[in-house]
Amino acid sequence: MNTILHIISSARGDQSYSKGLSTAIINRLLEQIQTNTLITRDLAQSPPPFADEISIHEFYKHPGLYDKQSHQLLSYANTIVEELKQADYIVIGTPMFNLGISAPLKAWLDQLIRAGVTYTFDEQGNRIGKFKDKKVYLAIASGGKSTSHAPDYLESYVKDVLKIYTGITNIKTYRIEDTVAEGFTADYDQILKDFT
Ligand SMILES: Cc1cc2nc3c(=O)[nH]c(=O)nc-3n(C[C@H](O)[C@H](O)[C@H](O)COP(=O)(O)O)c2cc1C
Repeated sequence: MNTILHIISSARGDQSYSKGLSTAIINRLLEQIQTNTLITRDLAQSPPPFADEISIHEFYKHPGLYDKQSHQLLSYANTIVEELKQADYIVIGTPMFNLGISAPLKAWLDQLIRAGVTYTFDEQGNRIGKFKDKKVYLAIASGGKSTSHAPDYLESYVKDVLKIYTGITNIKTYRIEDTVAEGFTADYDQILKDFT
């Protein structure tokens, strides 16, 4: 039995194409794999806290020094790490905003990634991600087409962050493009016709 974690990061609710595409991916997964749990984290409805001076201090503290305030300040970060730990499949929907990911998704990553929690170091000082067996699907919605675009920082950024700081390398990207074109309609079946 598997657990799927759905990360939604567009503020546009059911109008969102990245939410639509990531939901279509989840429906495919539900057809293909035995799933007992679906965790949905809507980062637009419940935005992650920004890393501020006090919480950053807690991030660097040795767990042996945690006090009551530490547990409160790390509560969101610990919750989303637990969700990632529990998940076998992570489906991330994100709009392209100014060539990058949405702000809530960036804030989620900044709360998620932590030394000693999502990665450790080996004796040679190499970073070792702790979640290498998980599979990620990345659903990107963009107003333009990638061919007519500046370099794609979005896909490479998410892939590099997850690879370097969590060890996840099994990442498949699906895109819905040209969403701001006049008369645009979403054809998720077409985008996912070769879904694996
Ligand atoms: C602030 C902002 C920045 C955007 N930047 C880009 C961009 O760099 N490239 C692009 O192709 N589309 C861009 N768009 C268009 C969105 O990617 C597009 O509307 C997409 O469908 C949004 O995702 P959603 O439907 O999941 O909300 C931008 C839209 C906004 C509001």
